[in-house]
Amino acid sequence: MLDKKIIDYLKQEVISKKKNPIFLETGFGIGTGALQALECGFSKIISIEIDDDLVEKGKENFRKFIDDGSLILVKGDSSEKIQEYFNSTIDVTFLDAHGQFNFDSKKVISAPLEKELEFIQKNISGDQIIIIDDYSKIKNSFYFSDDNWKSKLSKKKLKNILSKFNRQKIEYPYYQKKSGLLVNSHLIIFNKEKTRKIKIDGLIYKLINQNFTMFKLYGLNLIEKRILMIIKFMLGDNFYKKIRNFVKSKFKTDV
Ligand SMILES: C[S@@+](CC[C@H](N)C(=O)[O-])C[C@H]1O[C@@H](n2cnc3c(N)ncnc32)[C@H](O)[C@@H]1O
Repeated sequence: MLDKKIIDYLKQEVISKKKNPIFLETGFGIGTGALQALECGFSKIISIEIDDDLVEKGKENFRKFIDDGSLILVKGDSSEKIQEYFNSTIDVTFLDAHGQFNFDSKKVISAPLEKELEFIQKNISGDQIIIIDDYSKIKNSFYFSDDNWKSKLSKKKLKNILSKFNRQKIEYPYYQKKSGLLVNSHLIIFNKEKTRKIKIDGLIYKLINQNFTMFKLYGLNLIEKRILMIIKFMLGDNFYKKIRNFVKSKFKTDV
């Protein structure tokens, strides 16, 4: 999903300047991003989705756009399909398929971002714009290592790939819809000679505030988990469980 400010930016920088602008997306999901791109004026959307059910639902719900040629819904792994669909005719590429997590095996079964970025970096040209969604979470993926955060990219690897783009990069923080907290961002990669820099009000304040909120929300939780792991290790499993049950029973409140 694209933040409103980014949509305004794309309208100004792409839609108003280009004839028949094309939007490429990785990760169709339920089609929210694709619909936003259609509504904001892109003539053609190409969206790649790995999940069979989501592709089938997308085909039903977006039949009208598929039939009139404004949406091409591609089934497959975006790390491979992007090599087929990314070319110089694409104006904006929205990378939003950061991975797939299998809840049964508790394993990340696909993490396409690294391959996608490497391919794009080698083939990008002109004033093409790349937007990476969930950038703040990808950049801070170590906070999510115990849970199921999908990107397998380490901060170092990500930094290394991004440094190869000889382009301007800007992180635009935005409020996560569900929580209403400033914990997410888009990374926008653009050609500074040909594309105007997005105007962002209070960017520094936003970035500091965002990093602080991320730490409060995810960092403290991770520290707590690590401390409990060390205590568990020092006390042994059984003794730890006894103490935990004792503490729980002492602090249990009757509802
Ligand atoms: C966050 S959702 C996409 C949301 C959508 N872009 C939007 O703005 O509404 C991520 C989607 O990426 C898909 N996905 C995950 N790994 C993928 C891969 N390797 N190739 C293509 N799609 C993938 C998931 O199935 C999921 O539907």
